[in-house]
Amino acid sequence: MEINYDSLIRQAFDAREKAYVPYSGFMVGAALLTREGKVYTGCNIENAAYTPTNCAERTAFFKAVSEGERGFAAIAVVGGMKGTAEGGFPYTFPCGVCRQVMAEFCGEDFVIAVAKSPADYKLFMLKDLLPEAFGPGDLAK
Ligand code: THU
Repeated sequence: MEINYDSLIRQAFDAREKAYVPYSGFMVGAALLTREGKVYTGCNIENAAYTPTNCAERTAFFKAVSEGERGFAAIAVVGGMKGTAEGGFPYTFPCGVCRQVMAEFCGEDFVIAVAKSPADYKLFMLKDLLPEAFGPGDLAK
């Protein structure tokens, strides 16, 4: 499947605008592409009790899975402090918990695009960001 990363990253930037981050001020957006070509977006949602905070990536996954989606091709992730201007974004990598959620639903060839802009991004395979993962297969042996 040919993936349009420019479009996926733009959707992640749009989703980032919805981030609810009164505590960290770090706004994250994600755009998750299914194998059928549909996109589910997500933002991070923080909480005064801190630990209920949900990352942008998991928001996108949980939206998609709760709609019945099970096959995923790629996710784009963009993050940066509130007020970050174009050209000032860092590469934001998924946290360990989000990588584990990806391992639950995605194959080793699932692509993670971390982006500073639609034109400046790096691609990683899930198997490289979470090697030797514990996953659904381990409970089926
Ligand atoms: N965060 C994400 O949403 N995704 C990431 O990939 C890294 C971290 C959020 C969680 C928290 O709301 C804020 O960024 C600071 O950690």
